[in-house]
Amino acid sequence: MKRRFLGNSGLEVSSLCFGAMMFVGDSGWRHLSALGPADAKGMVNIALDSGVNFFDTADIYSGGASESLLGDALGSRRKEAIIATKVGFRTGEGTHDVGLSRQHVLEACHASLRRLHTDYIDLYLLHTYDPMVPLEETLRALEDLVHEGKIRYLGCSNFMAWYLMKALAVADSRGWSRFVALQSLYALTNRDIETEIIPACIDQGVGIMVWGPLAGGFLTGKYRKNQPWPGGTRIASPSDHLPFDEDRAYRTLEVLDGIACEHRATIAQIALRWVLDQRGVSSVVFGARNREQLTENLRAAEMHLTAEELGALDAVSKPPRPYPLWHYDVFNKERVHD
Ligand SMILES: NC(=O)c1ccc[n+]([C@@H]2O[C@H](COP(=O)([O-])OP(=O)(O)OC[C@H]3O[C@@H](n4cnc5c(N)ncnc54)[C@H](OP(=O)(O)O)[C@@H]3O)[C@@H](O)[C@H]2O)c1
Repeated sequence: MKRRFLGNSGLEVSSLCFGAMMFVGDSGWRHLSALGPADAKGMVNIALDSGVNFFDTADIYSGGASESLLGDALGSRRKEAIIATKVGFRTGEGTHDVGLSRQHVLEACHASLRRLHTDYIDLYLLHTYDPMVPLEETLRALEDLVHEGKIRYLGCSNFMAWYLMKALAVADSRGWSRFVALQSLYALTNRDIETEIIPACIDQGVGIMVWGPLAGGFLTGKYRKNQPWPGGTRIASPSDHLPFDEDRAYRTLEVLDGIACEHRATIAQIALRWVLDQRGVSSVVFGARNREQLTENLRAAEMHLTAEELGALDAVSKPPRPYPLWHYDVFNKERVHD
């Protein structure tokens, strides 16, 4: 599997990142899967043996079980892995068991280290932005953890572009570590980040880690217009899927059908490949409920789509250009450059 630099950093990550949110243990998020210790170990080994070196988890996934299962599954192969984990969502009942205060960030980082059975986290991500806490406080706490050797690289997730820019400016002005990655939802059905976030990341050398590349399973072909919804999957009913334009999504599935057929591939593989080929993307964090889905998805890393195929997918899934971008397009139309 090809490696890519994570943004402008020296961290080389596999183009596919294994999302461990599906490691749920006995009492976790059972609607996602039933993956316990034996499955986690088996799947982590398949991923590592296929060239995946990048693993994503978070302190809230299954109340911490995802981190514990990932740490256990990596075991003696810990050094082969780049582990990303996250802080920010509520982890307990206490006042400071949520958010990005110094208090919570320090506590949460130490708890993640314990669950992952490691003395360093390769990439620590702020899971969401917290407008109630000054950025300086959060970034200072992260900087202290970096200095203590507990965190090696920093990043954020689900940030707006202006908030990312603000965080980078604060870090730069204080000489603190910059974010090297931003983790964001991006899929053929959900292309919102193209307007502001991708240009900001490219401009700033921040690598994009995509989550939800299959729109939680919608972009696999098992959900069809006017057909019965399958049971036993994460998206229990049509009202459950991620927010997107359904008509455009079903039209996109039709184009995916044709391309998948040409390649003797699955719709999931083509949908993953499309995200892998988008600019600014360093790594695509994918999910799998079982080993079959895992091995199927891993093959996307070796595929090649033609410019025509990528163009067809782009055209059918393209959302309207929001203001002020369409306004800029009018202004820029006649300014032709070589
Ligand atoms: N930063 C964040 O806020 C955030 C949010 C969400 C996730 N994440 C991270 O991103 C990772 C991936 O997110 P995601 O799980 O939403 O991504 P996804 O790849 O869009 O969806 C994964 C789901 O799609 C279905 N699926 C996957 N491969 C399939 C295949 N080959 N055939 C048929 N169905 C298939 C499975 O669900 P079913 O079998 O149930 O259909 C699987 O659980 C997570 O593990 C987590 O690490 C981060």
